[in-house]
Amino acid sequence: MNEVKRTDEIQGEILHVYDDIEEADNNLPVWWLLTFYGAIVFGLVYWFYYHEYGIGKLPPEVYADKMAAAEAERSIVTDESLDALALDESAVAAGQEIFMAQCFACHDAKGQGREGLGPNLTDKYWVHGGAPIDIHETVTTGVAAKGMPPWAPILGETGVNQVVAYILTIRNTDVPGKAPEGEIWEPGGAVADDAPTMCTQPTSRAASRGFATVSSAS
Ligand code: HEC
Repeated sequence: MNEVKRTDEIQGEILHVYDDIEEADNNLPVWWLLTFYGAIVFGLVYWFYYHEYGIGKLPPEVYADKMAAAEAERSIVTDESLDALALDESAVAAGQEIFMAQCFACHDAKGQGREGLGPNLTDKYWVHGGAPIDIHETVTTGVAAKGMPPWAPILGETGVNQVVAYILTIRNTDVPGKAPEGEIWEPGGAVADDAPTMCTQPTSRAASRGFATVSSAS
């Protein structure tokens, strides 16, 4: 250590000189101390908040959540997801409300159908397939040529799913109504293909599901 001491006009009193590097020993500026202690406090809070107690979500978790939300929005609808929704009382109740408001006019109060309008949705016979995904497809895109409107633009994803869930609860309840149309659909065996179908790109899978015709069945 060099004993030479001088006072620098910027640094103040020079205490040490090593290899011509002069060192003073001033108090640290308040802004610097605040930044320093602030960083320590921030680090502790961060550690406890995110790691120790897991209160906050880390970026990978936020990412996973967002992916799941986006996935849910894509609404991959399957026979299984619709069957599950049909067990959800509030979804079915919402679906029934939609049915009474929008479908009643052509399919009547119990879904038994109306002459010259919509078919009976409670019998075994289906024009466009009776599997959940088939019904979902019919309701989503409608049958313009026969007067069945496409419901996706009106009811949205959620509404369509709910009303389909409701139809699944009245399916095969055989309410006397409009005469059978289409082909017999039996629950169970016919649902073989469970590949997910995007509801924005419906595919008709009814034909591959082993239908019997009305005449061969009766
Ligand atoms: C303006 C009349 C009308 C309204 C309203 C209507 N439908 Fe239909 N619906 C029809 C007609 C007509 C058909 C028969 C289409 C065919 O034969 O190809 C049909 C067929 C269907 C089918 C297929 C039946 C089968 O045998 O494959 C389903 C499911 C269905 N409607 C559900 C609904 C739901 C759910 C609503 C309400 C959100 C609704 N419909 C509202 C007229 C209507």
